Amino acid sequence: MLSSNYTNRLFGRTRGRSKKKINLKNYHETVEKFKFQNFDEKFDYILDIGTGYGETSIFLAKKFTDKIVVSCEKYIDGNIVLLKNIEKNKIRNIRLHNGNVYNVLENTNKKYFKLVWIFFPDPWPKNRHSKRRLITSDFLLKLHKILKDNSEIHIATDSTIYVRFILNSIYTCKDYFLWLNQSNMNLNIKDYFNIETKYYKKAINSQRKPSLFILRKL
Ligand SMILES: C[S@@+](CC[C@H](N)C(=O)[O-])C[C@H]1O[C@@H](n2cnc3c(N)ncnc32)[C@H](O)[C@@H]1O
Repeated sequence: MLSSNYTNRLFGRTRGRSKKKINLKNYHETVEKFKFQNFDEKFDYILDIGTGYGETSIFLAKKFTDKIVVSCEKYIDGNIVLLKNIEKNKIRNIRLHNGNVYNVLENTNKKYFKLVWIFFPDPWPKNRHSKRRLITSDFLLKLHKILKDNSEIHIATDSTIYVRFILNSIYTCKDYFLWLNQSNMNLNIKDYFNIETKYYKKAINSQRKPSLFILRKL
């Protein structure tokens, strides 16, 4: 069972700005059907953090049909879209955690994960909010503990402030992760994956170039 006792607060919105009426009872019943509960030693897992409208989870579930994708997001409007797409595509290997990724991380110290995706984490560009940023060296070390040997973390961002912050965290963790796409400086997402999330499209429409960092556990 997941514990509700976590120290890291989750910032940002739970509902969309439009405040479109939704039936929360139906929502929670559907979440229950796809809810992440426990790890099963039989499977390899993929952790998809901050999935927004769930495009990455659907992409990963189709690409890695033999693995379980644990999709972490508290944004209800986004999870509703994800749940619809799970049913529409008859996907069986996504488990949703409707909340903070820390809940999942704090409930295991075993190495269940083969891959972690973090696509467009909230950049919190203002200095006074910088402590809210998810990716720090401490967070990378937390992920190191739950990743299987040679597994990867993929991080995408279009924020120059966050790029600098991520580079710092990678440098601090240089004994724990190898930055695989460092030498060719090829950080273009589309060179690796044919996926467009809401925040990818936002970046392109605003002429910001998203970067992808690929780290391998040492
Ligand atoms: C900028 S959005 C990106 C959404 C999506 N990945 C995309 O590319 O369009 C970041 C999302 O991360 C979620 N998030 C932030 N911190 C989180 C945490 N600790 N655990 C789970 N989700 C988190 C937020 O709720 C938000 O929906």
